[in-house]
Amino acid sequence: MKLPLNVNLKDKVTVITGAGGVLCSAFAEALAQCGAKVAVLDINAEAAQKVADRITEKGDTAIAVPVNCLDAESLKAAHAIVAEKLGPCDILINGAGGNNPRGTTDDEQFDAAVEGIKTFFDLDPAGVRFVFDLNVIAALMTTQVFARDMIGRSGNILNISSMNAFRPLTKIPAYSGAKAAVSNFTQWLATYLAKSGIRVNAIAPGFFVTNQNRALLFTEDGKPTARTGKILAATPMNRFGEADELLGAFLFLLDDGAASFITGVVLPVDGGFSAYSGV
Ligand SMILES: NC(=O)c1ccc[n+]([C@@H]2O[C@H](COP(=O)([O-])OP(=O)(O)OC[C@H]3O[C@@H](n4cnc5c(N)ncnc54)[C@H](OP(=O)(O)O)[C@@H]3O)[C@@H](O)[C@H]2O)c1
Repeated sequence: MKLPLNVNLKDKVTVITGAGGVLCSAFAEALAQCGAKVAVLDINAEAAQKVADRITEKGDTAIAVPVNCLDAESLKAAHAIVAEKLGPCDILINGAGGNNPRGTTDDEQFDAAVEGIKTFFDLDPAGVRFVFDLNVIAALMTTQVFARDMIGRSGNILNISSMNAFRPLTKIPAYSGAKAAVSNFTQWLATYLAKSGIRVNAIAPGFFVTNQNRALLFTEDGKPTARTGKILAATPMNRFGEADELLGAFLFLLDDGAASFITGVVLPVDGGFSAYSGV
């Protein structure tokens, strides 16, 4: 793959969670291409192994490590494997995350005349809590375990926020709130760790078609949904992003040369979505 930036990450031990998924598998491959030793962490062991295999087949370094980022013992076990096989963590990418139907309403605006659908009033708080846990608490717990390795050395943490952190999207109050918390946590942690030589930033992807949102964007027979029409109309570039278009922002923020004085930023990569007022 041709990378948009040449960043030297030679032998940097890089832990990336959710790396069996669409976006973070592309990140993992790019990191390996930059010379990093990549620990591919995911709850889906098979998906993680496939990504690690793709990397090692090219002659780069990667290991697959199964983990549940919401389970402290699982995180500790993953940390022990990474420490033994690759060494202390230099770079942490908190990629595990996503939405869940239990945190999603059927309607965009409440209409008392419409019955038989899931409205805000029917949302299961446990489902909403799951989405907050998966996006916020998982990033916090993973950072507690892996960023300790960076203390007294240096380090780099990158979180994956989202467009809906800036302004909530309809139907997904849990995911919007959770990603707003991820952006806020990024700023908080950047401040907290700044004197320790650890930079903390985030990227905020706009709309990329992946497993977690496919059902919202396309019907079962592959036709764009009404929501897809609205998204494209609200995106000045009038298209979805491709996963590799995140790589420039991603690699730039990890580059201790080019981004040496940058910490606590949330960088949108969204085809102009966050800039456009709709008029
Ligand atoms: N796609 C977009 O348009 C978009 C936009 C903005 C932000 N993002 C964010 O980008 C990140 C990557 O998402 P993606 O779109 O690439 O989604 P994805 O393809 O669903 O990948 C997420 C991966 O995380 C794994 N995972 C789920 N729960 C986990 C846990 N507790 N511990 C460890 N791994 C876990 C998933 O495994 P299972 O599949 O087995 O659950 C999956 O392999 C997420 O934080 C997402 O919120 C995506």
